[in-house]
Amino acid sequence: MADIRVDVSRAKAAAVGKEHGFTSEELESLEGRVQAGHEVLQGWRRDGVLGFWDLYKDRATLADIKASAEHFLTFKYDNLVVLGIGGSALGIQALASALKSPYYNLMTRGARKGFPRLFVMDNIDPVTFRDMMRICPPKNTLYNVISKSGSTAETVSQMMIVADAIETKLGKDAMKDHVVVTTGPREPGKALNPLQAFAEAYGLPTFDVPKNVGGRFSVFSSVGMFPAAVLGLDLDAMFEGCASMDARCSTADFETNPAYLRAAIHYLADTRKGKVMSVMMPYADGLYRVADWYRQLWAESLGKKDNLQGEEVFAGQTPIKALGATDQHSQIQLYREGPNNKLITVLEVQKFDRTLRIPEALTGIESVGYLRGSSMNKLMAAELRGTVDALKISKRPVIRVILPQVSAHTVAQVLYMLEVETAMAGQLYNVDAFNQPGVEEGKNIARELMGSKG
Ligand code: PA5
Repeated sequence: MADIRVDVSRAKAAAVGKEHGFTSEELESLEGRVQAGHEVLQGWRRDGVLGFWDLYKDRATLADIKASAEHFLTFKYDNLVVLGIGGSALGIQALASALKSPYYNLMTRGARKGFPRLFVMDNIDPVTFRDMMRICPPKNTLYNVISKSGSTAETVSQMMIVADAIETKLGKDAMKDHVVVTTGPREPGKALNPLQAFAEAYGLPTFDVPKNVGGRFSVFSSVGMFPAAVLGLDLDAMFEGCASMDARCSTADFETNPAYLRAAIHYLADTRKGKVMSVMMPYADGLYRVADWYRQLWAESLGKKDNLQGEEVFAGQTPIKALGATDQHSQIQLYREGPNNKLITVLEVQKFDRTLRIPEALTGIESVGYLRGSSMNKLMAAELRGTVDALKISKRPVIRVILPQVSAHTVAQVLYMLEVETAMAGQLYNVDAFNQPGVEEGKNIARELMGSKG
């Protein structure tokens, strides 16, 4: 199976000038810090402080996930509803959008190969949630409640609505056939979190989110993998993709390690070239959610007030998502002629699953002759090339991430690479990439406003 490629040539000074692109000397100047960061990260990996790297090696959990998914598929439910927010929701959205048809939920059960439709509820908009409950009533729905902390108010409120509906409509005993809980492991001596307490009260099937895996790094844990299995996605191919990227990232060498190379270039771009924003722009609808997932990963991991020494640094690049070719008609004007403060990553797909010919139509209209007999695939490739070339002309740095095709294997490589890249970027920025103190405070204030005493 082919691997993804990363081409950084258009982010180099040779392509966009020294003011905007990096030089070999600048990259080399970071080698020592990257090597040191690599050793720190590898130490954390070895000592089990950080677990995201090795999730793909956990064959026992993989087997449990597959067995549980098979069990629930025998119920032939129409819907899988994921209740979760942030890192508990974005991973499965990225995977499902990339690997299922864009109109998957509108397809017949047969066309979906017997797998359920997917609804990811990552907000508490009452209109959306009420409508989802109408479309996905308990009788023919499996709900997967996901929260590592088990106490996120958004998710807990969703869980309460669902639990009440199941109990009212189907009875208490039905709960275990309609709800799977995914949450942090129980800790001896500590009170159960609300999800654990719910699972215990109703005897619900439960998956643990490992303690050393944070929400936004949890896509390859049961958080992303259980719903992926229920949708029939190829978990083995994903894990092979992780393994192949892990092998590339095993040394600090920029030649082989695309994650560290991208981390170093982003860090240089932000701190020395004024590129305070990182745009991710896939040229494939299915990868748009990958950009969404990346947005959270980059923002929550690196956007930090303090460095590791407790000094105020206000670090972080603002991640932005855009979609090619759509946003050529919305964003590219700004990216080319506005402030030169962005490093743009373009996600390219070499071979789409389908070729769509543009027919020999409208022969009477001479001005569309250049499209006649061509294909949408060719047009997409030309638009991408045109945009990337135009960005170079305006001295805007671009990194190309090239997927031979969109598959479980390649998408997993992209996600795994971005996780490792973010971990290394944390080292370069000298911030804790694995906490989110700025989020916790808002959560606590909201809980107080709701009258919580805990
Ligand atoms: O990355 C993170 O840790 C966060 O974005 C969390 O995923 C998010 O806040 C949801 O937390 P929880 O899974 O505890 O409900």
